[in-house]
Amino acid sequence: MNIARVQKGDSVLILGGSGGVGTVAIQIAKAIGATVTATSSDKNRAFTTARGADHVIAYDQDEVIDGEFDVLFDAVGGEPYKKAISHVKNGGVAVSIAGGVSQDEETIKIEQQKLIQVYEMFMQPDQEKMKQLNDFVTAHQVSPVLSHTYPMTVEGARDAHQDSATNRTKGKIVLVRDENTPVQ
Ligand SMILES: NC(=O)c1ccc[n+]([C@@H]2O[C@H](COP(=O)([O-])OP(=O)(O)OC[C@H]3O[C@@H](n4cnc5c(N)ncnc54)[C@H](OP(=O)(O)O)[C@@H]3O)[C@@H](O)[C@H]2O)c1
Repeated sequence: MNIARVQKGDSVLILGGSGGVGTVAIQIAKAIGATVTATSSDKNRAFTTARGADHVIAYDQDEVIDGEFDVLFDAVGGEPYKKAISHVKNGGVAVSIAGGVSQDEETIKIEQQKLIQVYEMFMQPDQEKMKQLNDFVTAHQVSPVLSHTYPMTVEGARDAHQDSATNRTKGKIVLVRDENTPVQ
């Protein structure tokens, strides 16, 4: 949301609103005062609404994106980004953490024609951003959703990766260290 410089009153479209990143992105955008539309599966519609999304589009129900948005935040990539990019306003911003931007000629053409500022984002350890996130949590504006916890062991890490690779988790997967179990 920092990169996109989301402002109060902006309209934000979030792809993957029910996922680990999407659930936090919805809450931050809402805390800033944006109007949020998010995509999720139909079974996660109520869950995504409960995170604060004003509108939810169920991608598996042939529901289509309607209207234009100031900001697109993409946590899915591929075809969903290609469908969404034409719904960004002229001069708007598109940020992808999932390899969505500029993926082919057709997508680049739309990005360029609409003068969309596109950003491919990779998470970097950053104390200042962690503090901002902590401030949102402390102010009860962001509540992290724990999908599943696994023990911090080799088996636990393997199971967590397999869970993550399904691309169907709700909220975050966390490895928890048992104080009595030595780290392997
Ligand atoms: N660049 C970075 O620094 C960075 C950091 C973290 C993550 N990532 C990447 O960002 C992506 C999301 O991460 P995550 O942790 O949020 O993943 P996640 O928890 O597995 O969530 C993925 C979400 O995508 C949704 N989804 C799947 N197919 C979709 C479609 N066709 N249209 C719309 N939504 C769809 C799923 O929704 P349903 O369950 O409702 O079907 C699920 O909620 C992953 O590719 C991950 O590798 C990048």
